[in-house]
Amino acid sequence: MTAPHAFEMRQRARRTRQSEAIRSLVRETTLTVSDLIWPIFVREGVNIEEPVASMPGVMRYSVDRAVAAAEGAAALGIPAVCIFPYTEAALKTETCEEAWNPENISNRAIRAIKQAVPQMAVMTDIALDPYNSNGHDGIVRDGRIVNDETVVALVKMAMAQAEAGADILGPSDMMDGRIGAMRDALESAGYQDVTIMSYSAKYASAFYGPFRDAVGASGALKGDKKTYQMDPANTDEAMRMIARDLEEGADMVMVKPGMSYLDVCHRVKSEFGVPTFAYQVSGEYAMIEAAALNGWIDGEKIMMESLLAFKRAGCDGILTYYAPRAARLLSA
Ligand code: PBG
Repeated sequence: MTAPHAFEMRQRARRTRQSEAIRSLVRETTLTVSDLIWPIFVREGVNIEEPVASMPGVMRYSVDRAVAAAEGAAALGIPAVCIFPYTEAALKTETCEEAWNPENISNRAIRAIKQAVPQMAVMTDIALDPYNSNGHDGIVRDGRIVNDETVVALVKMAMAQAEAGADILGPSDMMDGRIGAMRDALESAGYQDVTIMSYSAKYASAFYGPFRDAVGASGALKGDKKTYQMDPANTDEAMRMIARDLEEGADMVMVKPGMSYLDVCHRVKSEFGVPTFAYQVSGEYAMIEAAALNGWIDGEKIMMESLLAFKRAGCDGILTYYAPRAARLLSA
C-alpha cells in the first residue's frame, strides 16, 4: 500500500501528542497542590474580609477570618500560608518598633493559625516596610538605608516570629548579613528547627506595585528600593546571593518576581540543586486578572500555564495568590 505522502517519516513528534492519555504519559512536569504557598494579608478588626482594589479576588483578613482562610487552604491540601500585615499608619515610625512587637498583627495571626491548623506551615515576611513611616525595608537615616542597624532590627523581628510559632521565616529585605545574623540568633535561642526561606534574588521591580497597596506602603514610600534590591539586568549576581545565603544558613531560596525571571530560577536550580521557590508577585497576578476581567484572555488557563512554567523552570514551589483557586482546579 502506498503511503499518502511522498516520503517516509520515522520521527513524528505528533505521535506522542495525539491523545490526552499519551500526552499524560510523556509529560515532563507536573503541578501539584503541595507546590503552593498562599500569601495572605492580615489586618485589625473582627470578621473582616476587605478586597484589595488592585488585586481582584484578594482580601485583607482580620485574624479570625485569616484563621478560617487557612483552614480552608489546609482542607484543599495547601501546605503553607505566608502572612503579610496591613499596618495602620499610626503604628508606623522611623524606628519601626512595631515590627518586633510580639502582639503585632502578624504575630497574632501566626499564633492563631498555628493553634487552629497546626499541620499547616506558617511562613512570615521579614522586612521593615509595613512598619516604616518611610515605606522602606530598612531604617532610613539622612536619606540612606542603613544596613547594619536594620539587620539588628530584623533579627528582633525574626525572633518575635519564631517565638510566635512561625515555621518558615522569609527575609525579604535584601540587607547584607541578615541571614547569618538571624541563623545565629535562632541557634542560640534554641530555635534550631525554624527554617529560613531567603528572598535571595529579589529584584528592584515595578511588579510589586499592587502589593504595596495591599499592605498600605505605597503612600509612605519615598524614592525606590534600588540600593538594596537587585538590578533586573543581573543573573551572575543572583548566583552570588544564593551562594552567600546558603552559606549563612538559609534552608530554601527564592527568586522574585517570578514570571519575568524564570531564567534566574532555572540557573539557581541547576547550579545549586537546593529547594528553590519563586514568588508570582502582585503585579503578575494583577495583569492576568485585569486581562481576564476584560475578557481578553482565559484567566483560569493562564493561571495554570503560568504556575506550570515555574515548575518547568526548576522551582520546587511557588508563592502565589492563586493558591486556593489552583488547588481547587487541581483537585477537581
Ligand atoms: C516587602 C515585600 C514586598 C513583597 C513581598 N515582601 C514588596 C517590596 O519589596 O516592595 C512583594 C510581593 C508582591 O508584590 O506580591 N519587602
